[in-house]
Formats: sequence, C-alpha cells, structure tokens
Amino acid sequence: MRSPSAQPTTVDVRLHKLHPGQKAIADHPARFRVVMCGRRFGKSALGIRLVCDAALKGQPVGWFAPSYKLALEAWRELVVRLGPLIDRQSEQDKRLELKTGGVVEVWTLDSPDPARGRKYALAVIDEAGIAKDLLAVWQAAIRPTLVDLGGRALILGTPKGRRHGFVVLFHRGEAGDDPDWASFRASTLTNPYIPAEEVEAARKELPPEIFQQEFEGIPTDDGANPFGLDAIRTCVGALSEEKPVVYGVDLARSMDYTVVVGLDPWMKVCVLERWQSPWAETKTRIAEMVKHVPVVADATGVGDAIVADLQTMGLSVSPHIFTQSSKLRLMQRLIAVFQAKDLTIPEGWLQSELEAFEFTYTANGVKYEAPKGYHDDGVMALALAIHGWDRVQCVKPDGSVPPPSLIGNDPHVAEKDHTPQSLATVGDFTSQLPSEGW
Ligand SMILES: Nc1ncnc2c1ncn2[C@@H]1O[C@H](COP(=O)(O)OP(=O)(O)O)[C@@H](O)[C@H]1O
Ligand SMILES: [Mg+2]
Repeated sequence: MRSPSAQPTTVDVRLHKLHPGQKAIADHPARFRVVMCGRRFGKSALGIRLVCDAALKGQPVGWFAPSYKLALEAWRELVVRLGPLIDRQSEQDKRLELKTGGVVEVWTLDSPDPARGRKYALAVIDEAGIAKDLLAVWQAAIRPTLVDLGGRALILGTPKGRRHGFVVLFHRGEAGDDPDWASFRASTLTNPYIPAEEVEAARKELPPEIFQQEFEGIPTDDGANPFGLDAIRTCVGALSEEKPVVYGVDLARSMDYTVVVGLDPWMKVCVLERWQSPWAETKTRIAEMVKHVPVVADATGVGDAIVADLQTMGLSVSPHIFTQSSKLRLMQRLIAVFQAKDLTIPEGWLQSELEAFEFTYTANGVKYEAPKGYHDDGVMALALAIHGWDRVQCVKPDGSVPPPSLIGNDPHVAEKDHTPQSLATVGDFTSQLPSEGW
C-alpha cells in the first residue's frame, strides 16, 4: 500500500534490456503468449522483466513455477530487482507490495489451489514444459485470475516430450485462429548473451532429437529419454542362447539390486539376472555365474572391496569406478548403440528401466539417471557390459563393427582400432583397460 506520507523520490531499478528475440514476444499484442524455446534463450529473464514492468505500473501480477526451488529463484531475483521500490515483503507468502501500488506474488504449481481468489493483470508460468497437469492448472487456477482485470499471460518453457499440456497450449497459439493466443519458438542461440561454443559442446554430447528439444524448443516423442523409446523397442528380442563373451555387473547399494548382464558375440543379451542378498552370497553367485568370462564391474565405494574379493577368487574382473564423466561416457556409448539398433535386450524389467531413464541438466552439464522411485542398476550393468564388449569382442562374428557413435566425439572411437581381438583369457582383459576413469 502506498503510504500517504510518502514523498515522491527517484529510485533506480535495474532491468534487463530485452534482446531482439525477447522483444518480439514482449511487443506482441496477443493476450496469451506461449513461448517454447531452447534452454537459456532468456525465457525467465523475459518473464522477470515483464513482471517488473507491470508491477512498476502499479499492477498485480502472479508468477507460477512448477517447484519450490524454481519459484524461489524467481522470487529472489524479483526481490533484488524491485528492492528499492518494495514497501512490504512477505517471505512466507512470497508476496511483494511495491510503493507504486503494484503487487507481485510467486506461487508453486505443486501447492494445492495456487492463487485462489487473486486478480492479476499478468500471470507468468515459468518452466511450463515440466509443470504437472498444466492444462488443468491453467484452466482451474491461473486462467480465473485473469478474468476481472482482463489480464494477460506469458507461458514459458522448454518442452519435455510431445505428450504434454505445454504442447497443447503451444498449438493453440500456433493455429492462428484465435487472436488471443500467439506462440513463439526460438533456439538458445537467439540469446546473444550465450556463447555459441557452449551450445556446440552440448550438440556434441546429445542425441540430435534431444539437442533439438533442449536447444531449439522442438519437443521429441521421447520426453527426456536419451535412448529413444522407438530405438529401445526395436532392440527388444528373445534372450540369446549363445554363450556370453563378457559380463557387466552393477553391485547393489542400500535399496537396489545387484544386476548381471551377459552379452554374446552379437551384442545380444544372453544372461540377465538381478537379486538382493548379503555380500558373501552375492560374490559366490557372481563367481558361479561368470566363471572365466571377463567381467566389468562397478567398483565405486564399497564395490572396490567386492571386486578385489572377486579377483582373489580367480575371476577376470575389470573394476569400473563411476564418476560423473565416466558415467557420461558409458551413457553416450549406450545411446549410440541403441541409436544404431545394434544390441538386443529381452522384454521385461530392463526394458522398463531403459524407458524410464532420463537425462537432466545440472550446472556441470548433462546428467543421465533414473527418475526418483526408479532403479538404474540394470541400465548401468548393461552399459558396463557394452563397454566390456567393445574391448573383448569389438567385432561381430560376421565381421561387422557396430558404428561407434552417432553423437559427437565418442572417446571410444579414438581408443579403439577396430581390429578383431581374440577373446580375453583371465588376466588379459584388465590389462586392456586403464585402471580407472575410462
Ligand atoms: N536481455 C538480456 N540481457 C542480458 N542477459 C540476459 C538477457 N536475457 C537473458 N540473459 C541472460 O541469459 C542467461 C539465460 O537466461 P534465462 O532467462 O535464465 O534463460 P531461460 O529461462 O530461457 O533458460 C542468463 O544468464 C540471463 O541473465
Ligand atoms: Mg528459466
């Protein structure tokens, strides 16, 4: 509320000058604007700027984000930018009242009934591409806040899969038959503040469809699945009856399974088992299963001692220590193998694990993992087995070599000379590998 005794003064509020891609959206007259762009296009920056502009004019505005963490980021930035004009600030309610009469409220979309009874001149939904039940929330919670004041909306996001309400809203604007709606799509590189090298680096790391989704705002069929749902399905077949040439072993941590994957000379899964049991039993079971066939095993943390024991028992085990970069390389190789449709996996839980697998972005780059509540030990064991297959088998019995990689610089390409190798015997295998970090 404006205090009656307040004297008019001049204050400095620092706002971004919009880049041309943002300006085209900001200037567009449509009441509801849907912005489906690559990451770091400047969507949030645009939203913050338009919220500030409206609040400075004395209008009430609402900001909606899918999670508390995202909402908090926006809240903090709004507090800093509007700082000199804030009259009242409630951390609890995430509500700012400005000296201009403007009000800004920040909501998380996972709270029940956000913005109930509010009237806004502008509503911004950030990260709409990952908002749960976006259409229902839009219809039941956000759209009603815009009725009284004839408010506008800005719906911002990077898509995550085609089957999402964000894509439905985008099509509404794209159809061109409703002047209230407009849609915009632009790539990350439209933002002049993003170094092109960063985007190029990502292009090398990611499968093409995923690059398009994340950096050009074009949704994929696969959401965040790095292997491709079609590719996974194409690779499903009967469990091979041939003998394994290599095993991948992922050892159980507290909640998950020990998984053993055996691959035959054709890169077909011929052994697939998972279980939970005490370490002593696990070791005996692995030893009985793999005998003298080479194994690549997870030696991270407690795995180190288990692998040492397995080696003492006479097994040909190469330890693999999972680091963020070693995991990234294993995943890139697995993605390449799926894209080339070069392996065969059996139907069942491994397929489900692969289908649920996702990549996410972190400050350090792309990360591949199972979503909360899902296991990833089958995927990891498979990736370890493929890695071992590249060393001990390398060439299929008909002389064909799986295309090394479809994405960027696969480090395996440089390492591998593609000459057929004899199957490793005990002791042979480990010597082909650096001790860790590969
Ligand atoms: N108009 C602008 N002027 C200066 N920097 C900008 C502008 N728009 C975006 N940025 C910067 O670009 C980066 C990405 O912007 P952000 O809004 O976080 O992207 P997105 O929400 O699309 O992922 C941030 O560092 C942001 O500060
Ligand atoms: Mg953002």
